[in-house]
Parts: sequence; C-alpha cells; structure tokens
Amino acid sequence: MNIVELIIKKRNGLPLTKEEIFFFTNSFTNGKISDYQFSALLMAICIKGMNKKETSYLTEAMLYSGIVVNLDRIKGPKIDKHSTGGVGDKTSLIIAPIVASAGVNVPMISGRGLGHTGGTLDKLDSIPGFRTNLNLKEYKEILRKCGTVLIGQTKEIAPADKLFYQLRDVTGTVESFPLITGSIMSKKLAEGIDGLVLDVKTGSGAFMRKTSDALSLANLLISTAKSFDKQVIAFITDMNQPLGNNVGNWLEVEESINVLKGKADGDLLKLSLSLAGAMIYMGGKSKSISSGIKIAQEKISNGDAFNKFVEVVSLQGGNPKFILNPEKYRKPRFVKRVRASRGGFIKAIDNYTIGMASLELGAGRKSLKDKIDPKAGIIFKRKIGDKVKKSETIAELHSDSKTKIDIASEMILNSISYSNKKVAVPRLIKKVIT
Ligand code: URA
Repeated sequence: MNIVELIIKKRNGLPLTKEEIFFFTNSFTNGKISDYQFSALLMAICIKGMNKKETSYLTEAMLYSGIVVNLDRIKGPKIDKHSTGGVGDKTSLIIAPIVASAGVNVPMISGRGLGHTGGTLDKLDSIPGFRTNLNLKEYKEILRKCGTVLIGQTKEIAPADKLFYQLRDVTGTVESFPLITGSIMSKKLAEGIDGLVLDVKTGSGAFMRKTSDALSLANLLISTAKSFDKQVIAFITDMNQPLGNNVGNWLEVEESINVLKGKADGDLLKLSLSLAGAMIYMGGKSKSISSGIKIAQEKISNGDAFNKFVEVVSLQGGNPKFILNPEKYRKPRFVKRVRASRGGFIKAIDNYTIGMASLELGAGRKSLKDKIDPKAGIIFKRKIGDKVKKSETIAELHSDSKTKIDIASEMILNSISYSNKKVAVPRLIKKVIT
C-alpha cells in the first residue's frame, strides 16, 4: 500500500477500507510515514470525513496500536470520564479523587492541550515532580493502592493517539468527528474500564460550536463505546465561557484544589459534582445520579476527596507541598488587569479567543517544539450575566512576557461584549443521555 494513494483517495472523498486504515495507523505509529504526509492525510480526513464504519476501524486500529490493559486483578468497578475539550475545563483533576474516594476506581489516560483547549496532562505537569509517563506496572500499582491514577498515552498504551494527537494539535486538524472519536475511544478503551462518562462540550470554546453537532458527536461516541461493550453516559455541556474562573495550567490546579477543599461554588463545582455523581452511579455505588452527587458532595465536605488528591499526587512523584500550600508556587513576572471597556451586563465571551489568548500567554503550544509556561494564564473575575462598571477588572493575566501579556490583553478586550439589559447565563448542562 502507498500512503500517497490513500491521501488522494481520501482527498477525493472516497471511503478507506479496514486494511488501508490499519496500514496508515500502524505505519505512522512505527515511524514509517513522515509527518508531512500524515498531516496531509489528517487534513483530507478532516475535510472529507469518514463514515461510521471507517470511524469504527480507525478506533480499532488506534486501540490495537498498543495493549488493552487488564485490570481484572484490581477489585471494584473501573469507571472513567472524558471531555471533548474546552477552556478552563479542569474537571478531571477534581473528579478523579472524588470518585476514587467513593470506592470507584478511576484509571485515567488523558491528553495534552489540543488546539485552543487545555489538556489534563499539561495541568498535571505543572505540579513540580508529577510524572504522567508511568509504565504499565506503575500505572496498575498506583491504581491498586489509591483507586486512581492519571497518565498520558504511552508507547504501550494508545501509542497511535499519542502521535496523532501531537500532530493534530499543530496542523488545524482537531475538529473532525472521526479523529476525535478514534482519539478519545482508543485511549479510554485501552484503560481496561467497565464504563465511561462523556462530557461533550458545545459553544464558542468547544470543537462543536453548535449543540446539534455536539449531539451527533455524542451519539457517535456512544455507539462506538457500546460496540466495545462499555456502559456509557453522555453529558452535553456549555462551553460558551471558561469553566470556573481560571485558565492556564497551574492556575487550574490551584482552582481545583479550592473546589476539593470545599472553597468554591458555581459552574465548575456543579459540573464536577454532576459528572462525579454519574460515575459513582455507573460504578454501582449509588442508586441514581442524584444520590451519586450527594456522595460526591460528602466526599468534598469530609475532606476525603482532597486527601485522595494529595495521595495520588505524592504517589506519582509530585511535591505535595504545593497542593497543601499553593501560595508557595512560583509567581509570574507580570500580572496585568483587563478592565471593562464600558458599563453594563456581560453578554458574551468569545471563548475560542480566550483559549487562543491563553496560548499566547504561554499556557499552550503553537508548534511541536513550544515549551509551556505552567504559571501563564488568566483569572476571570467576571463572567456572562455579571453586571460591571466601566473600568472594573474583568480578568487578570499572568505571564513572564510583557509583549505576550499586551497581545493577550487586547484579544480578551475584543472577545467580550456587553448589553444594557440583564443577560441570562447559558444553561450549563444541556442534556444527559443515559
Ligand atoms: N479529547 C481527546 O482525547 N481527543 C480529541 O481529539 C479531542 C478531545
């Protein structure tokens, strides 16, 4: 088989066969196709799409590029959660310790930032010493000891996704249903889980701007999970503004710590509890999602969830000092305030631009070689629906670069619109598909 022929075939909108899909997945994973040819193929898939059969073959090929972990020796249910990606979306850091402390194992394989969205691995990497590149033995050992483990794709587990993902991030080939489905499901199915809770985002900061697209993707993900005999619950949730207040890697860890310590409320807490409640229910530890939510709330208020986070951070080599005392973390060289350009109610925030501003500050990558600044990011003081006075602080920007902070500040100013009349806050949870 010849990769150029496959690129042309897909460019012409023709479906690829199972053999062809396995060929390009395995050849690229084994270093036999160059990045430039594979980028062309990804772009052709992104533009021309793949049918359901091709998507299912792609998921299978990506899954079997590595091993499927056998967790039979670890007692209890194994349930994970995955989000399709957003801005300020840090729920994984909050949910994993809550659910693990409720007696449901959470073996989590996550990704790095993708396009304008942040990634769990980059957030975890901001914790000094934290290792996300565990080998299989360490992965199982920590899960057995602590009930949760948080790693990235490895050479053994979902290696195809590791490589596809890096390239998609910097080639404008993220927004593609089949590529998203193959990426999410290959790593989740490789974890050895019994069930999965999906958080499918919609809105200006999501890959699916329209709710109808988010629903279509959710259905594709659900049918793929079911074809591998996995239980699945999908949430369709709002991404028209950052989730919570902080955007940027360490800033998001800090905000997660606050939620786990019971010091936060608002959309981030609400969504984290809902997703955790669904996982607790799916793991058989509650009779319904709402009673799962109550258990999740208890795990925060009695300190178990926070203690579990400290435990998993320590087991994965992270320095617990920064979790116990986040104020000891290094500070950025520059902090700049973005002020309201007029008085009124915040009507909308272009959340894609917020994600790009955060990248600009140094919280994400624009090319494969870019290094992330863990301290860089944005703290929102006001969100949609809030009443503001002219010149009031809406956001605070953190960066080591004065030039970057000035560029990002302009981007954020232009991303916010105002209204003289009261504005309704976008509904956070739009639909739950059980
Ligand atoms: N999350 C993933 O793991 N992959 C995608 O492609 C998008 C979101």
